[in-house]
Amino acid sequence: MNLNNSTTKISKELLDFALSSVVQSPNTIEENRRKLMNPTTQQMLTRGSIRKFDASKPVSKELLDHLLTAMIQAPSYVGGQQFSVIVVQDPAQKEKIYEYTMPASGKGMTYIQQAPIFLIFVMDFNKIETAMKVENTEIQVTDSLEALLIGTVDVGILVEAFTVAAESHGLGTVTVGAIRKCSAQIIKDFNLPQKTFPIVGMAVGFPAEGVLPKVTPRLPLSGIIHYDTYNAQGFSNVLAEYNETMKQLYAKRGIELSWTKLLSNYYSKPIYKDLTEIYKGQGFKF
Ligand SMILES: Cc1cc2nc3c(=O)[nH]c(=O)nc-3n(C[C@H](O)[C@H](O)[C@H](O)COP(=O)(O)O)c2cc1C
Repeated sequence: MNLNNSTTKISKELLDFALSSVVQSPNTIEENRRKLMNPTTQQMLTRGSIRKFDASKPVSKELLDHLLTAMIQAPSYVGGQQFSVIVVQDPAQKEKIYEYTMPASGKGMTYIQQAPIFLIFVMDFNKIETAMKVENTEIQVTDSLEALLIGTVDVGILVEAFTVAAESHGLGTVTVGAIRKCSAQIIKDFNLPQKTFPIVGMAVGFPAEGVLPKVTPRLPLSGIIHYDTYNAQGFSNVLAEYNETMKQLYAKRGIELSWTKLLSNYYSKPIYKDLTEIYKGQGFKF
C-alpha cells in the first residue's frame, strides 16, 4: 500500500490495525502487520521499555545531540517550549538518584546506575518568566492549574519524541516517574530554580547483550478509542479478557500478578503526598 496516497479512511484503518493487533497475540505481529506497517509504525509497535543496559557502551556526544535535536522539534504549547532537560552522565549523580528512588522492597532501579545517560525532564516556566521580562510583563499563568497541565503535557510529548528517536538508533529507554518520589532532592541537587519542576526521568543506553524489548499488549482499541461520544461499555467489554491476557503474560515473566491487581497496588492510596508543598515551594500555585 502506498502510504503517500492515504486518505482519512486509510489512516484510521492503519491506526486500528496497528494498535489492535498487539492485543491479539505478540506472536502474530509479523504476520498481521505486513500490509500497512512502515518502518516508523513497525518500530512503535514492537517497542518495549529496556531495563538492562550495556554500561560499557557509551552513547556518543554526536548521537546524543542528534537525538535531542530531533526531540525538541516536537510540538509545544504556544511554541513556548516550557521545558528543560538535564543530561546526567556523572556516575555519582546517577547513584544518588538510584538511592533516592529505592523502594521499600530494597530492589532498586539498577538501570539508573547502568544506563550511561539519565535524562531529567523538567517543566520550566523560569525561562518563560525570563523571556517575558523583555516585554516588562509578569508571569501569572503559574498561579493556575493550567501551568501544570501545559508543562506536563509538553514534557510528555518530549519523552515520547526522545523515545522514538532513540529507539530508531538502536538505543533502549525506560521512563522513570519514580523521580517524583525524591522531587525535593532532585530540585536541590540539580539547582532547579523557581518556577521549574522535575516531571520524569529516563534511563537511556544501548541494551545489554541479548536484551530485546518485550512487547506488552495494550487494551484493544475498543477499550480506549471512542467514536463521537464517550462509551464506558467498550472498556467494560474487554476488561476481563485483557486482565487474563496480562495475568498469563506476567506468569510467563515469572510474576504472579494481574492488570487489575497491579492497578490496585498502585492506586488504592494517594501517591507522593508531599508533592503539593514542594510544588508550591517552587513558586507555583493552583
Ligand atoms: C510517566 C511514566 C513513568 C514511568 N515510571 C517508571 C518507573 O519509575 N520505573 C520503571 O521501571 N518504569 C517506569 N515506567 C515504564 C512503564 O512501567 C512501562 O512503560 C509500562 O509498564 C509499559 O511497558 P512497556 O513500556 O515495556 O511497553 C514509566 C512509564 C511512564 C510513561
